[in-house]
Amino acid sequence: MAIKEIIKMGHPLLLEKAKPVTEFDTLELHKLIEDMIETMADASGAGLAAPQVGEGIQLVIFGADTERYPEDDSIPFTVLINPIITPLSDETEDGWEGCLSVPGMRGLVPRFQKINYKGYDQFGKAMDRDVEGFHARVVQHECDHLIGMLYPLRIKDLRFFGFEDTLFSE
Ligand code: NI
Repeated sequence: MAIKEIIKMGHPLLLEKAKPVTEFDTLELHKLIEDMIETMADASGAGLAAPQVGEGIQLVIFGADTERYPEDDSIPFTVLINPIITPLSDETEDGWEGCLSVPGMRGLVPRFQKINYKGYDQFGKAMDRDVEGFHARVVQHECDHLIGMLYPLRIKDLRFFGFEDTLFSE
């Protein structure tokens, strides 16, 4: 396992569309996922997309426990490949987001409140989940990385975008 360098906003790879994964359960894929898990843990993130570590494929990992995110629901650790997201209603809600590719910043981003997502795990096993709230937000954020979309581009009012230590200081 190895910690990979996380590419930061401004790098052209973060604006590209990722390619679908065509082969599952390969040594190469397992190694990349292990490295991404270690990289995400090292950076204390709730999610990481393959393009953020320089791999332009449709693979994201995410997960959060309530110890680190006490105000949010926990999200089971998930490897999601070739995802398809379908909103389950028009309802959106605003929430604060950060991104390991935009370190130190936070922004208020509208996301669909309830979604379905389908995809595969690293073994090619199909996944089909209806989720809401924080879980739905994290999935939408991570899958945005696969279409070259970063969360600052989704902020409706840029007054609600800034440095974390300033925004949330007393
Ligand atoms: Ni991100």
